[in-house]
Amino acid sequence: MSLPFILSFRKDITVTEESRDRMVIQSTRVKGNLPQYTLNLEQVSPGLFSAINSLSTAGGTEENLSDSVLQTDGFERLPTFYYYLNQFIQLGWICHTVAGDGVSIATRVPIYPFKRFQVQSATVEQKYTLSRFAYCHKQDNQLIIESPLSHTKVILADWRGAALVSELAQPRTGEELCQTIPGLTPEMVQLFLSLLRSSQMLGVVPNNGKIEEDESHSLISWEFHDLLFHARSRKGRHSNDSGKTFRFLDKIPQPPMIQPQMSDEIIELYQPDIEKLKAEDYSFTWVLEERKSIRSYGDKPITLKQLGEFMYRCTRNKRITAKDYGECTHRPYANSGGRYELELYAIANTCDNLDSGVYHYRPEAHQLCRLTGRNENVEALLEDAYFANGRFCMPQVLFVFAPRFQRASWVYESIAYANMLKDVGSLQQTMYLVATAMNLAPCAIGGGNSDLFAATVGTDYYRETSVGEFILGSLSVD
Ligand SMILES: Cc1cc2nc3c(=O)[nH]c(=O)nc-3n(C[C@H](O)[C@H](O)[C@H](O)COP(=O)(O)O)c2cc1C
Repeated sequence: MSLPFILSFRKDITVTEESRDRMVIQSTRVKGNLPQYTLNLEQVSPGLFSAINSLSTAGGTEENLSDSVLQTDGFERLPTFYYYLNQFIQLGWICHTVAGDGVSIATRVPIYPFKRFQVQSATVEQKYTLSRFAYCHKQDNQLIIESPLSHTKVILADWRGAALVSELAQPRTGEELCQTIPGLTPEMVQLFLSLLRSSQMLGVVPNNGKIEEDESHSLISWEFHDLLFHARSRKGRHSNDSGKTFRFLDKIPQPPMIQPQMSDEIIELYQPDIEKLKAEDYSFTWVLEERKSIRSYGDKPITLKQLGEFMYRCTRNKRITAKDYGECTHRPYANSGGRYELELYAIANTCDNLDSGVYHYRPEAHQLCRLTGRNENVEALLEDAYFANGRFCMPQVLFVFAPRFQRASWVYESIAYANMLKDVGSLQQTMYLVATAMNLAPCAIGGGNSDLFAATVGTDYYRETSVGEFILGSLSVD
Protein backbone atom coordinates (compact mmCIF):
# COMPACT_ATOMS: atom_id res chain seq x y z
CA MET A 1 0.00 0.00 0.00
CA SER A 2 1.23 3.51 -0.77
CA LEU A 3 2.26 5.73 2.14
CA PRO A 4 -0.10 8.65 2.84
CA PHE A 5 2.22 11.45 1.74
CA ILE A 6 0.41 14.46 0.33
CA LEU A 7 1.41 14.68 -3.30
CA SER A 8 1.53 18.04 -5.08
CA PHE A 9 3.28 19.64 -8.02
CA ARG A 10 6.49 21.60 -7.47
CA LYS A 11 5.78 25.34 -7.32
CA ASP A 12 7.16 26.00 -10.78
CA ILE A 13 4.89 23.50 -12.55
CA THR A 14 1.99 25.19 -14.32
CA VAL A 15 -1.23 23.52 -15.42
CA THR A 16 -3.25 25.15 -18.19
CA GLU A 17 -6.73 23.95 -19.07
CA GLU A 18 -6.88 24.31 -22.86
CA SER A 19 -10.44 22.93 -23.11
CA ARG A 20 -12.67 20.56 -21.15
CA ASP A 21 -10.51 17.56 -22.02
CA ARG A 22 -7.14 19.10 -22.92
CA MET A 23 -4.42 20.20 -20.50
CA VAL A 24 -0.90 21.49 -20.88
CA ILE A 25 1.48 20.88 -17.99
CA GLN A 26 4.94 22.37 -18.02
CA SER A 27 7.91 23.09 -15.88
CA THR A 28 8.38 26.83 -16.10
CA ARG A 29 11.68 27.06 -14.30
CA VAL A 30 13.81 29.57 -16.15
CA LYS A 31 16.83 29.22 -13.93
CA GLY A 32 18.83 26.11 -13.30
CA ASN A 33 19.87 23.12 -15.31
CA LEU A 34 16.52 21.39 -15.21
CA PRO A 35 15.31 20.94 -18.77
CA GLN A 36 12.08 22.72 -19.66
CA TYR A 37 9.48 20.07 -20.26
CA THR A 38 5.91 20.20 -21.57
CA LEU A 39 3.24 17.50 -21.46
CA ASN A 40 0.21 17.91 -23.73
CA LEU A 41 -2.63 15.78 -22.42
CA GLU A 42 -5.52 15.00 -24.77
CA GLN A 43 -8.88 13.35 -24.04
CA VAL A 44 -8.44 13.88 -20.32
CA SER A 45 -11.25 12.22 -18.38
CA PRO A 46 -13.07 14.36 -15.75
CA GLY A 47 -11.59 12.36 -12.85
CA LEU A 48 -8.03 12.74 -14.15
CA PHE A 49 -8.74 16.43 -14.84
CA SER A 50 -9.69 16.97 -11.21
CA ALA A 51 -6.78 14.84 -9.85
CA ILE A 52 -4.30 16.94 -11.85
CA ASN A 53 -5.93 20.14 -10.63
CA SER A 54 -5.59 18.84 -7.04
CA LEU A 55 -1.89 18.22 -7.60
CA SER A 56 -1.43 21.84 -8.66
CA THR A 57 -3.37 23.23 -5.67
CA ALA A 58 -3.69 21.65 -2.21
CA GLY A 59 -2.49 18.20 -3.28
CA GLY A 60 -3.79 14.87 -2.05
CA THR A 61 -2.65 11.42 -1.01
CA GLU A 62 -2.28 8.82 -3.73
CA GLU A 63 -5.26 7.01 -2.24
CA ASN A 64 -7.48 10.12 -2.29
CA LEU A 65 -6.51 10.99 -5.83
CA SER A 66 -6.99 7.48 -7.20
CA ASP A 67 -10.30 7.19 -5.30
CA SER A 68 -11.60 10.32 -6.95
CA VAL A 69 -10.58 8.99 -10.40
CA LEU A 70 -12.26 5.68 -9.56
CA GLN A 71 -15.48 7.39 -8.41
CA THR A 72 -15.68 9.81 -11.34
CA ASP A 73 -14.29 7.79 -14.27
CA GLY A 74 -14.57 4.17 -13.23
CA PHE A 75 -11.99 1.42 -12.79
CA GLU A 76 -10.84 1.37 -16.43
CA ARG A 77 -9.33 4.92 -16.16
CA LEU A 78 -7.15 4.08 -13.13
CA PRO A 79 -4.18 2.79 -15.21
CA THR A 80 -4.12 6.13 -17.08
CA PHE A 81 -4.05 8.01 -13.77
CA TYR A 82 -1.16 5.87 -12.50
CA TYR A 83 0.66 6.19 -15.82
CA TYR A 84 0.61 9.99 -15.56
CA LEU A 85 1.37 10.06 -11.84
CA ASN A 86 4.46 7.92 -12.46
CA GLN A 87 5.48 10.17 -15.30
CA PHE A 88 5.18 13.29 -13.09
CA ILE A 89 7.26 11.61 -10.38
CA GLN A 90 9.81 10.50 -12.96
CA LEU A 91 10.12 14.08 -14.22
CA GLY A 92 10.80 15.27 -10.68
CA TRP A 93 7.59 17.34 -10.64
CA ILE A 94 6.01 15.85 -7.51
CA CYS A 95 6.60 16.95 -3.92
CA HIS A 96 5.86 14.59 -1.01
CA THR A 97 4.60 16.21 2.18
CA VAL A 98 4.24 14.87 5.72
CA ALA A 99 1.41 16.71 7.43
CA GLY A 100 -0.33 16.57 10.77
CA ASP A 101 -3.29 18.56 12.12
CA GLY A 102 -3.51 20.20 8.70
CA VAL A 103 0.03 21.60 9.11
CA SER A 104 2.85 20.47 6.88
CA ILE A 105 5.89 19.28 8.83
CA ALA A 106 8.23 18.44 6.01
CA THR A 107 8.14 18.47 2.22
CA ARG A 108 10.45 16.58 -0.06
CA VAL A 109 11.18 18.56 -3.23
CA PRO A 110 13.09 16.91 -6.10
CA ILE A 111 16.08 19.01 -7.15
CA TYR A 112 17.06 16.86 -10.09
CA PRO A 113 14.67 15.05 -12.42
CA PHE A 114 14.78 11.53 -13.74
CA LYS A 115 15.54 9.99 -10.36
CA ARG A 116 12.74 7.63 -9.49
CA PHE A 117 11.44 8.20 -5.97
CA GLN A 118 11.85 4.78 -4.36
CA VAL A 119 9.78 4.88 -1.21
CA GLN A 120 11.60 3.20 1.64
CA SER A 121 9.13 2.61 4.44
CA ALA A 122 10.18 3.09 8.03
CA THR A 123 8.68 1.58 11.17
CA VAL A 124 8.28 3.17 14.60
CA GLU A 125 10.00 0.24 16.35
CA GLN A 126 13.26 0.37 14.37
CA LYS A 127 16.17 2.65 15.37
CA TYR A 128 17.28 5.25 12.79
CA THR A 129 19.89 7.98 12.71
CA LEU A 130 20.84 10.82 10.40
CA SER A 131 23.39 10.34 7.66
CA ARG A 132 26.64 12.21 8.43
CA PHE A 133 26.22 13.88 5.03
CA ALA A 134 22.83 15.46 5.85
CA TYR A 135 22.92 19.15 6.78
CA CYS A 136 20.44 21.92 7.52
CA HIS A 137 20.62 25.47 6.23
CA LYS A 138 18.45 28.46 5.57
CA GLN A 139 17.09 29.03 2.06
CA ASP A 140 14.41 31.59 1.12
CA ASN A 141 13.36 31.98 4.76
CA GLN A 142 12.92 28.24 5.18
CA LEU A 143 14.95 25.60 6.97
CA ILE A 144 16.13 22.99 4.50
CA ILE A 145 17.78 19.63 5.01
CA GLU A 146 19.91 18.42 2.11
CA SER A 147 22.61 15.88 1.44
CA PRO A 148 25.14 15.30 -1.34
CA LEU A 149 23.88 11.69 -1.37
CA SER A 150 20.43 12.89 -2.40
CA HIS A 151 18.72 14.29 -5.47
CA THR A 152 16.17 16.07 -3.30
CA LYS A 153 15.84 18.66 -0.58
CA VAL A 154 13.44 18.49 2.34
CA ILE A 155 11.81 21.68 3.57
CA LEU A 156 11.31 21.59 7.34
CA ALA A 157 8.23 23.76 7.38
CA ASP A 158 7.28 23.31 11.04
CA TRP A 159 9.34 23.31 14.27
CA ARG A 160 8.46 19.65 14.77
CA GLY A 161 10.38 18.74 11.59
CA ALA A 162 13.46 20.56 12.93
CA ALA A 163 13.03 18.91 16.35
CA LEU A 164 12.87 15.45 14.73
CA VAL A 165 16.05 16.12 12.77
CA SER A 166 17.80 17.32 15.92
CA GLU A 167 16.80 14.18 17.86
CA LEU A 168 17.90 11.93 15.01
CA ALA A 169 21.52 13.05 15.44
CA GLN A 170 21.54 10.02 17.76
CA PRO A 171 19.92 6.65 17.09
CA ARG A 172 16.21 6.90 17.91
CA THR A 173 13.10 4.79 17.38
CA GLY A 174 9.88 6.40 16.21
CA GLU A 175 8.37 5.51 19.58
CA GLU A 176 11.11 7.44 21.41
CA LEU A 177 10.61 10.40 19.10
CA CYS A 178 6.87 10.44 19.86
CA GLN A 179 7.62 10.52 23.59
CA THR A 180 10.23 13.27 23.31
CA ILE A 181 8.55 15.68 20.90
CA PRO A 182 5.01 16.85 21.69
CA GLY A 183 2.32 17.09 19.01
CA LEU A 184 3.37 14.07 16.94
CA THR A 185 1.43 10.87 16.28
CA PRO A 186 3.19 7.57 15.48
CA GLU A 187 1.79 7.82 11.92
CA MET A 188 3.32 11.27 11.38
CA VAL A 189 6.69 10.12 12.76
CA GLN A 190 6.66 6.98 10.65
CA LEU A 191 5.92 9.03 7.55
CA PHE A 192 8.63 11.56 8.40
CA LEU A 193 11.18 8.77 8.90
CA SER A 194 10.10 7.22 5.58
CA LEU A 195 10.53 10.60 3.85
CA LEU A 196 14.09 11.10 5.13
CA ARG A 197 14.96 7.46 4.51
CA SER A 198 13.69 7.67 0.92
CA SER A 199 15.79 10.82 0.51
CA GLN A 200 19.07 9.12 1.55
CA MET A 201 19.29 11.22 4.72
CA LEU A 202 18.56 8.54 7.29
CA GLY A 203 20.06 5.12 8.02
CA VAL A 204 18.72 2.06 9.77
CA VAL A 205 20.77 1.40 12.92
CA PRO A 206 21.52 -2.32 13.25
CA ASN A 207 22.81 -4.01 16.41
CA ASN A 208 26.44 -3.07 15.73
CA GLY A 209 25.41 0.61 15.66
CA LYS A 210 26.83 1.25 12.18
CA ILE A 211 24.49 2.44 9.46
CA GLU A 212 24.98 1.26 5.88
CA GLU A 213 26.98 4.31 4.77
CA ASP A 214 29.50 3.72 7.60
CA GLU A 215 30.25 0.30 6.13
CA SER A 216 30.34 1.44 2.51
CA HIS A 217 33.83 1.15 1.04
CA SER A 218 33.20 3.86 -1.51
CA LEU A 219 31.75 6.36 1.00
CA ILE A 220 34.03 5.77 3.96
CA SER A 221 36.85 7.94 2.64
CA TRP A 222 34.62 10.88 1.69
CA GLU A 223 34.67 13.79 4.09
CA PHE A 224 31.42 15.72 4.36
CA HIS A 225 32.81 18.97 2.93
CA ASP A 226 34.57 17.23 0.03
CA LEU A 227 31.47 15.31 -1.10
CA LEU A 228 29.25 18.37 -0.79
CA PHE A 229 31.72 20.48 -2.78
CA HIS A 230 32.00 17.74 -5.41
CA ALA A 231 28.23 17.25 -5.75
CA ARG A 232 27.52 20.98 -5.94
CA SER A 233 30.31 21.97 -8.29
CA ARG A 234 29.49 19.22 -10.81
CA LYS A 235 26.20 18.80 -12.67
CA GLY A 236 23.82 15.90 -12.07
CA ARG A 237 22.82 16.19 -8.44
CA HIS A 238 21.38 19.68 -8.21
CA SER A 239 19.38 22.07 -10.34
CA ASN A 240 21.31 25.24 -9.58
CA ASP A 241 22.62 27.36 -12.39
CA SER A 242 26.09 26.36 -13.42
CA GLY A 243 28.75 27.89 -15.65
CA LYS A 244 29.07 31.45 -16.94
CA THR A 245 25.83 32.98 -15.66
CA PHE A 246 27.08 36.51 -14.81
CA ARG A 247 24.73 36.55 -11.83
CA PHE A 248 26.19 39.82 -10.49
CA LEU A 249 26.01 41.73 -13.76
CA ASP A 250 24.27 45.06 -13.02
CA LYS A 251 24.34 44.24 -9.29
CA ILE A 252 27.92 44.68 -8.17
CA PRO A 253 30.87 45.95 -10.17
CA GLN A 254 33.34 43.26 -11.15
CA PRO A 255 36.79 43.55 -9.56
CA PRO A 256 39.22 45.17 -11.99
CA MET A 257 41.42 42.99 -14.18
CA ILE A 258 44.50 44.26 -12.36
CA GLN A 259 44.82 44.49 -8.61
CA PRO A 260 45.65 48.07 -7.63
CA GLN A 261 49.27 48.61 -6.61
CA MET A 262 49.64 47.47 -3.00
CA SER A 263 52.60 49.61 -1.87
CA ASP A 264 55.04 52.26 -3.09
CA GLU A 265 58.11 50.11 -2.61
CA ILE A 266 58.63 48.79 -6.14
CA ILE A 267 61.31 46.37 -7.33
CA GLU A 268 61.81 46.14 -11.08
CA LEU A 269 62.31 42.55 -12.21
CA TYR A 270 64.62 41.15 -14.86
CA GLN A 271 62.98 40.35 -18.21
CA PRO A 272 64.51 37.51 -20.21
CA ASP A 273 64.73 37.54 -24.00
CA ILE A 274 61.85 35.22 -24.92
CA GLU A 275 62.82 35.02 -28.61
CA LYS A 276 66.30 33.86 -27.65
CA LEU A 277 64.86 31.33 -25.23
CA LYS A 278 62.54 30.01 -27.93
CA ALA A 279 65.55 29.31 -30.11
CA GLU A 280 68.01 28.06 -27.50
CA ASP A 281 66.08 26.62 -24.57
CA TYR A 282 65.89 22.95 -23.62
CA SER A 283 63.50 20.95 -25.77
CA PHE A 284 59.93 20.66 -24.56
CA THR A 285 60.24 16.91 -24.17
CA TRP A 286 63.47 17.24 -22.19
CA VAL A 287 61.74 19.62 -19.78
CA LEU A 288 58.68 17.40 -19.47
CA GLU A 289 60.73 14.29 -18.85
CA GLU A 290 63.15 15.93 -16.40
CA ARG A 291 60.51 17.73 -14.31
CA LYS A 292 60.45 16.56 -10.73
CA SER A 293 59.83 17.88 -7.23
CA ILE A 294 63.05 18.95 -5.55
CA ARG A 295 62.91 19.77 -1.85
CA SER A 296 66.51 20.63 -1.00
CA TYR A 297 68.66 23.40 -2.40
CA GLY A 298 72.15 24.44 -3.39
CA ASP A 299 74.50 26.30 -1.04
CA LYS A 300 74.00 29.56 -2.90
CA PRO A 301 70.42 30.86 -2.79
CA ILE A 302 68.31 31.67 -5.80
CA THR A 303 68.97 35.18 -7.17
CA LEU A 304 66.62 38.09 -7.79
CA LYS A 305 67.51 37.84 -11.49
CA GLN A 306 66.41 34.17 -11.57
CA LEU A 307 63.25 35.09 -9.71
CA GLY A 308 62.53 37.78 -12.30
CA GLU A 309 63.07 35.41 -15.21
CA PHE A 310 60.99 32.70 -13.54
CA MET A 311 58.02 34.98 -12.90
CA TYR A 312 58.23 36.51 -16.36
CA ARG A 313 58.09 33.06 -17.95
CA CYS A 314 55.24 31.85 -15.71
CA THR A 315 52.92 34.65 -14.78
CA ARG A 316 53.37 37.96 -16.60
CA ASN A 317 50.53 39.53 -18.53
CA LYS A 318 51.18 38.91 -22.20
CA ARG A 319 48.25 40.80 -23.64
CA ILE A 320 44.80 42.08 -22.82
CA THR A 321 41.62 40.97 -24.58
CA ALA A 322 38.43 43.02 -24.44
CA LYS A 323 35.47 40.68 -23.98
CA ASP A 324 31.87 41.86 -23.98
CA TYR A 325 31.80 41.49 -20.19
CA GLY A 326 35.10 43.17 -19.45
CA GLU A 327 38.82 42.88 -19.97
CA CYS A 328 40.63 39.56 -19.69
CA THR A 329 44.31 38.82 -19.94
CA HIS A 330 46.61 36.18 -21.34
CA ARG A 331 49.47 34.76 -19.33
CA PRO A 332 51.75 31.77 -19.93
CA TYR A 333 49.48 29.49 -17.88
CA ALA A 334 45.87 28.67 -18.79
CA ASN A 335 43.15 30.06 -16.53
CA SER A 336 39.38 29.57 -16.47
CA GLY A 337 37.62 32.18 -18.60
CA GLY A 338 40.77 34.32 -18.86
CA ARG A 339 39.78 35.85 -15.51
CA TYR A 340 43.25 35.42 -13.99
CA GLU A 341 41.88 35.79 -10.50
CA LEU A 342 45.01 34.39 -8.81
CA GLU A 343 47.19 37.07 -7.28
CA LEU A 344 50.75 35.95 -6.81
CA TYR A 345 52.72 36.69 -3.65
CA ALA A 346 56.40 35.84 -3.20
CA ILE A 347 57.61 35.26 0.34
CA ALA A 348 61.37 35.55 0.26
CA ASN A 349 63.36 33.65 2.85
CA THR A 350 66.78 33.62 1.27
CA CYS A 351 67.07 35.22 -2.14
CA ASP A 352 70.22 36.95 -3.33
CA ASN A 353 69.62 40.73 -3.74
CA LEU A 354 66.11 40.61 -2.29
CA ASP A 355 65.37 41.37 1.35
CA SER A 356 63.47 38.74 3.24
CA GLY A 357 59.73 39.53 3.40
CA VAL A 358 56.45 39.45 1.49
CA TYR A 359 56.05 40.82 -2.03
CA HIS A 360 53.07 41.15 -4.35
CA TYR A 361 53.71 40.51 -8.04
CA ARG A 362 52.39 43.03 -10.59
CA PRO A 363 51.92 40.97 -13.77
CA GLU A 364 51.23 43.94 -16.05
CA ALA A 365 54.41 45.78 -15.03
CA HIS A 366 56.56 42.79 -14.12
CA GLN A 367 57.45 44.30 -10.76
CA LEU A 368 57.40 43.22 -7.14
CA CYS A 369 55.70 45.39 -4.60
CA ARG A 370 57.17 45.04 -1.11
CA LEU A 371 54.46 44.61 1.56
CA THR A 372 56.24 43.66 4.74
CA GLY A 373 59.59 42.53 6.08
CA ARG A 374 60.30 39.38 8.02
CA ASN A 375 58.03 39.04 11.01
CA GLU A 376 56.37 36.32 13.09
CA ASN A 377 53.67 35.70 10.49
CA VAL A 378 56.20 35.40 7.69
CA GLU A 379 58.19 32.89 9.78
CA ALA A 380 55.00 30.89 10.41
CA LEU A 381 54.05 30.81 6.70
CA LEU A 382 57.56 29.65 5.74
CA GLU A 383 57.51 27.06 8.50
CA ASP A 384 54.14 25.70 7.31
CA ALA A 385 55.68 25.09 3.88
CA TYR A 386 58.77 23.54 5.51
CA PHE A 387 56.59 21.04 7.37
CA ALA A 388 54.52 20.36 4.24
CA ASN A 389 57.61 19.43 2.24
CA GLY A 390 58.65 16.88 4.82
CA ARG A 391 61.07 19.22 6.66
CA PHE A 392 63.69 18.83 3.96
CA CYS A 393 64.70 22.47 3.79
CA MET A 394 63.25 25.89 4.59
CA PRO A 395 61.98 27.16 1.22
CA GLN A 396 64.16 29.85 -0.31
CA VAL A 397 61.08 31.41 -1.88
CA LEU A 398 57.48 30.51 -1.10
CA PHE A 399 54.89 31.51 -3.71
CA VAL A 400 51.35 31.94 -2.46
CA PHE A 401 48.38 32.03 -4.85
CA ALA A 402 45.49 34.12 -3.59
CA PRO A 403 42.43 34.56 -5.81
CA ARG A 404 40.40 37.71 -5.77
CA PHE A 405 37.35 35.47 -5.42
CA GLN A 406 34.83 37.83 -7.00
CA ARG A 407 36.89 38.02 -10.21
CA ALA A 408 35.76 34.42 -10.81
CA SER A 409 32.40 34.28 -9.00
CA TRP A 410 31.20 37.43 -10.77
CA VAL A 411 31.22 35.33 -13.96
CA TYR A 412 30.84 31.73 -12.80
CA GLU A 413 28.16 30.09 -10.71
CA SER A 414 28.42 26.68 -8.97
CA ILE A 415 31.90 26.09 -10.41
CA ALA A 416 33.74 29.30 -9.46
CA TYR A 417 35.71 27.89 -6.54
CA ALA A 418 36.33 24.55 -8.27
CA ASN A 419 37.75 26.45 -11.24
CA MET A 420 40.05 28.50 -9.00
CA LEU A 421 41.59 25.31 -7.64
CA LYS A 422 42.04 24.00 -11.16
CA ASP A 423 43.73 27.30 -12.03
CA VAL A 424 46.14 26.66 -9.17
CA GLY A 425 47.02 23.32 -10.79
CA SER A 426 47.57 24.99 -14.13
CA LEU A 427 49.91 27.57 -12.58
CA GLN A 428 51.76 24.96 -10.52
CA GLN A 429 52.49 22.83 -13.57
CA THR A 430 53.71 25.87 -15.51
CA MET A 431 55.97 26.74 -12.58
CA TYR A 432 57.32 23.18 -12.46
CA LEU A 433 58.17 23.25 -16.15
CA VAL A 434 59.76 26.71 -16.14
CA ALA A 435 61.79 25.87 -13.01
CA THR A 436 63.04 22.68 -14.69
CA ALA A 437 64.01 24.62 -17.82
CA MET A 438 65.88 27.11 -15.59
CA ASN A 439 67.69 24.44 -13.53
CA LEU A 440 65.91 25.49 -10.35
CA ALA A 441 64.39 23.34 -7.57
CA PRO A 442 60.56 23.38 -7.64
CA CYS A 443 57.90 21.75 -5.47
CA ALA A 444 54.13 22.22 -5.21
CA ILE A 445 52.71 22.45 -1.71
CA GLY A 446 49.36 20.91 -0.86
CA GLY A 447 48.19 22.97 2.10
CA GLY A 448 48.57 26.32 3.80
CA ASN A 449 47.01 28.66 6.32
CA SER A 450 44.60 31.08 4.64
CA ASP A 451 43.77 32.97 7.83
CA LEU A 452 47.41 33.59 8.60
CA PHE A 453 48.08 34.65 5.04
CA ALA A 454 45.19 37.14 4.99
CA ALA A 455 46.42 38.59 8.29
CA THR A 456 49.98 38.83 6.96
CA VAL A 457 49.15 40.76 3.79
CA GLY A 458 46.11 42.56 5.21
CA THR A 459 43.44 41.24 2.85
CA ASP A 460 39.80 40.54 3.67
CA TYR A 461 39.60 36.72 3.96
CA TYR A 462 36.36 36.66 1.95
CA ARG A 463 37.72 38.81 -0.86
CA GLU A 464 41.21 37.45 -1.28
CA THR A 465 43.24 34.84 0.51
CA SER A 466 45.50 31.89 -0.24
CA VAL A 467 44.31 28.71 -1.98
CA GLY A 468 47.65 27.29 -3.14
CA GLU A 469 51.40 27.35 -2.59
CA PHE A 470 54.61 26.50 -4.44
CA ILE A 471 58.22 26.56 -3.27
CA LEU A 472 61.32 27.34 -5.28
CA GLY A 473 65.04 27.43 -4.67
CA SER A 474 68.45 26.99 -6.25
CA LEU A 475 69.48 23.58 -7.49
CA SER A 476 72.34 21.88 -5.68
CA VAL A 477 75.15 20.86 -8.00
CA ASP A 478 76.54 17.49 -7.06
C1 LIG B 1 48.61 19.64 -5.80
C2 LIG B 1 49.95 19.13 -5.31
C3 LIG B 1 50.26 19.22 -3.98
C4 LIG B 1 51.51 18.81 -3.52
N1 LIG B 1 51.82 18.97 -2.22
C5 LIG B 1 53.06 18.66 -1.78
C6 LIG B 1 53.43 18.95 -0.43
O1 LIG B 1 52.67 19.50 0.35
N2 LIG B 1 54.67 18.58 -0.03
C7 LIG B 1 55.56 18.00 -0.87
O2 LIG B 1 56.67 17.72 -0.44
N3 LIG B 1 55.23 17.72 -2.16
C8 LIG B 1 54.01 18.05 -2.64
N4 LIG B 1 53.67 17.84 -3.94
C9 LIG B 1 54.63 17.19 -4.84
C10 LIG B 1 54.26 15.75 -5.07
O3 LIG B 1 54.59 15.00 -3.91
C11 LIG B 1 55.01 15.22 -6.29
O4 LIG B 1 54.61 15.96 -7.41
C12 LIG B 1 54.74 13.74 -6.54
O5 LIG B 1 55.23 12.95 -5.49
C13 LIG B 1 55.37 13.26 -7.84
O6 LIG B 1 56.76 13.49 -7.80
P1 LIG B 1 57.50 14.41 -8.87
O7 LIG B 1 56.86 15.79 -8.82
O8 LIG B 1 58.92 14.45 -8.42
O9 LIG B 1 57.31 13.79 -10.21
C14 LIG B 1 52.46 18.23 -4.42
C15 LIG B 1 52.09 18.13 -5.78
C16 LIG B 1 50.87 18.61 -6.22
C17 LIG B 1 50.56 18.53 -7.68
